[in-house]
Amino acid sequence: MLKATEPGAEMNAPGKSSAVRAMFAEIAPSYDRLNHLLSANIDKRWRRYTVNKLADVLDRPGALALDLCCGTADLTLELEKRARVIGCDFCHPMLVIGREKIARRKAARATLAEADALNLPFADAQFDAVAIAFGLRNLAHVEGGLAEIFRVLKPGGRAAVLEFSRPVVPLLHQAFNFYFHRVLPRIGAFVSGSSAAYAYLPESVKNFPDQERLSAMMREAGFSSVRYHNLSGGIAALHLGERSL
Ligand SMILES: C[S@@+](CC[C@H](N)C(=O)[O-])C[C@H]1O[C@@H](n2cnc3c(N)ncnc32)[C@H](O)[C@@H]1O
Repeated sequence: MLKATEPGAEMNAPGKSSAVRAMFAEIAPSYDRLNHLLSANIDKRWRRYTVNKLADVLDRPGALALDLCCGTADLTLELEKRARVIGCDFCHPMLVIGREKIARRKAARATLAEADALNLPFADAQFDAVAIAFGLRNLAHVEGGLAEIFRVLKPGGRAAVLEFSRPVVPLLHQAFNFYFHRVLPRIGAFVSGSSAAYAYLPESVKNFPDQERLSAMMREAGFSSVRYHNLSGGIAALHLGERSL
């Protein structure tokens, strides 16, 4: 199991993939409930915002979207309202819950696949849009993940990276740090039964690149017109990048 203080909690680290997969397998049954509880449902608004920023691409005739690290398919289901979508994740128990939600909501244009985001089973240039929500931070190799996103995106397509980031409002920064490091791990451990997972969350956010650094990494991966939108004062940020024609 990944501990916040172990090397696996760093941005790119050997052994991180299997530890992350095991961690999400353990918390899968309580993942959705905790997500909405710990964020006071703001996570739902962030996902809707992400889909709105992809709307013009998703509305193209026959558009196909990829939801990478889809987990329990919340973003997949938002994307499905506008286009056909494949959700990918390497954690089977998360996908089982996602599949139940897709079946319940009769989301006929969504399908889920078990796959590693660092080695996707798709040919180059397949997707009009690739979205990843709270997934990039969990990859064992962030640059490798960005390279795979770029590879499977069609020229003219758009990538959207939704991730926790750095609050840009001073007081919010302090309040958020207190909540994220002191309160959230306790509630998370109590509800999920996994203290490691909710200690790992704030540490992984701390180790993840800030808004400007992630923008630079996306440009290095080949994306053009890279920009970002701070959400809830920078608690999260949505980065967007295009694959040029
Ligand atoms: C915090 S959850 C996010 C789930 C979902 N996108 C959401 O918005 O709630 C992170 C997900 O990334 C998945 N993940 C991490 N590394 C992965 C990899 N290399 N390949 C595929 N999925 C991965 C985990 O299994 C987990 O389901």
